This record gives sequence, C-alpha cells and structure tokens, in this order.
Amino acid sequence: MFNNDCTTNIINKINELKEKRNALIIAHNYQLSEVQDIADFVGDSLELSRKAADTDADVIVFCGVHFMAETAKILSPEKTVLIPDIKAGCPMADMINVAKLREFKAEYPGRTTAAYVNTSAEVKAEVDICCTSANALEIVESLDADEILFVPDQSLADYVAQRTTKKIIPFSGYCPTHHRISREQIVAQKEKHPGAVVLAHPECTRDVLELADGIFSTAGMISYVKESSAKEFIVATEQGILHRLQLDNPDKKFYSPTERTICPNMKKITLKKVLWSLEEMQYVIELDPEIIKRARNSIDRMIAIR
Ligand code: 13P
Ligand code: SF4
Repeated sequence: MFNNDCTTNIINKINELKEKRNALIIAHNYQLSEVQDIADFVGDSLELSRKAADTDADVIVFCGVHFMAETAKILSPEKTVLIPDIKAGCPMADMINVAKLREFKAEYPGRTTAAYVNTSAEVKAEVDICCTSANALEIVESLDADEILFVPDQSLADYVAQRTTKKIIPFSGYCPTHHRISREQIVAQKEKHPGAVVLAHPECTRDVLELADGIFSTAGMISYVKESSAKEFIVATEQGILHRLQLDNPDKKFYSPTERTICPNMKKITLKKVLWSLEEMQYVIELDPEIIKRARNSIDRMIAIR
C-alpha cells in the first residue's frame, strides 16, 4: 500500500509521462478505483474499442485484460498499445483457441460463427463477426443465417438464444467471476433490500438473469442507473463497477450479490504498473499483420451494425 504522498507522486509522474509520450490511458469499468480515477476514459469493451480507434494519441495504455488491449491494437495498428501487466488475461477468452474453434466449426460445417470480443486476435481472425455484451442480440439478428455458432461464452449465447428465433449453437466457455453469482445470493440480497432493482450482466447464468429487472453490459448498467428513479440496486457483475456507479450517483446505494464478484485479472493493473508501463514502454501488444487484417474484418462487421 502507498501512503497518500506516495500515491500523489505516482499520479504526477504518470501525468507527466502521459504528456511526454502523447499517451491515452483507457480503463475498463472493472479496474481498481485508483486506476479508473487516473484514466482519460473508462468504459465497457465496446466503448473502449471505439475510443482506441478514434484517438490521436500515439500510445494507448490499456488498463484491462489482454483481449481488450489486442482489440485496441487491431483497430489502431499504427499505434503503440501497452498493457501494464502482460499476465492480465481473461480465463473465458482462454477457454477457446484456434484449434478448438476449428474443431467446433468442423462439427457444424457451413454455419456462420459469431465471437464475443472476449477472444484472442487469432480466434477473431477465424470467425465471421464479433459482438460484445452490449450488442450480441442485434449482431445475431443482423446475420443472414438461421443457425449460428456462438463462442466462447455459453451464458451470453443462452441469453441471446432466449431472445431470438435463430438457433444458437453455444461453445462451452464461461466467466468464472460471473458464474460465482448464484440465484440464492440474489434472493438473499432482495430480502435485505426489498425495494432494490436487480441489474445483471449477461455473462451470469440463466437462473440469475431470470431474477434481473435489467440485463446490461457494464456501460448499459451505468446509463440505466443514471436515468432510474430507484435508490437501491443489486448489481450482479464484477464489483469494480460499483466505484463508478457510486461516483455518478452519490445518493443511491449499490450492493454486490457476494463479496466474491472479483475478477482477479482485472485487478492485476495497479497505479505502480501503469507508471512502469509508461516509463519502460512495456508491455507492447504485438500481432501478426495478417491476423490483424482478418480479425479487423470481424470487428468492422460488428461496428458497421452497432
Ligand atoms: P462489458 O463489455 O460489459 O464491459 O464486459 C466485459 C467483460 O469482460 C465482462 O466480464
Ligand atoms: Fe474475463 Fe470474466 Fe474477467 Fe470479464 S470478468 S475479464 S469475462 S474473467
């Protein structure tokens, strides 16, 4: 832990170096509070991809997990994209690789394949289109196909399947953090806070989603809460989002279903590591140009729709 002077010192150094390198710091909604606070922009996967594509900065310091930084690189190949901890991966994204994807596709030949952005660049390069939690249903609906392979998240696939007439064939991946949230925990929180609105991320299991008043991406939750007249919310997603929700809505109360809604990988990025990243210009996200080109097609098809 740092004392306050030490933290201020680190923040000042980060700001100096940010200017010197013409860098933009972007952070996912699940990042540690202090990392969100020094970021130029905080958002969900879709917003961060867009921000990375739009910026004039030469360097993007991506405070999130590896697939997100790769997505920024795919969209801005001419920029230097840094991730302050190379080990900040996404276990769900790691549940599928190119070999497993090819096997899955071979089981269902000729089908269109949609990939959640929580996948490696190599996997994105081998699918027809990408989607995020904010646009998955619209992306699936836009496809000129009745049967769609959906990788890697079985829960997001199920969420979409419940809302479309198309046949969704899910891969078996899942988010360990969201799957730690149970129906019983939501029921217990509702008993404690009877008037609270339940918000859930579509990476949660179906039995949890059935209890939700609203199902959103992290950015969707932030906008919903701002507009809502409710005063209390049970938030079924990674608890890093509570920082932003509380900052934006000081008069409202937020509860996590369990203390275990922590994504350890999201918490690997610290202020010290952000500073180190800018000092050493590490870790640089490097991708094969051919993979970038093919993965970009899948992301561009998504962005063209939403
Ligand atoms: P969002 O796109 O909703 O921010 O979600 C990303 C993610 O990794 C959720 O676990
Ligand atoms: Fe991956 Fe889940 Fe962490 Fe999101 S919360 S980055 S899906 S492990």
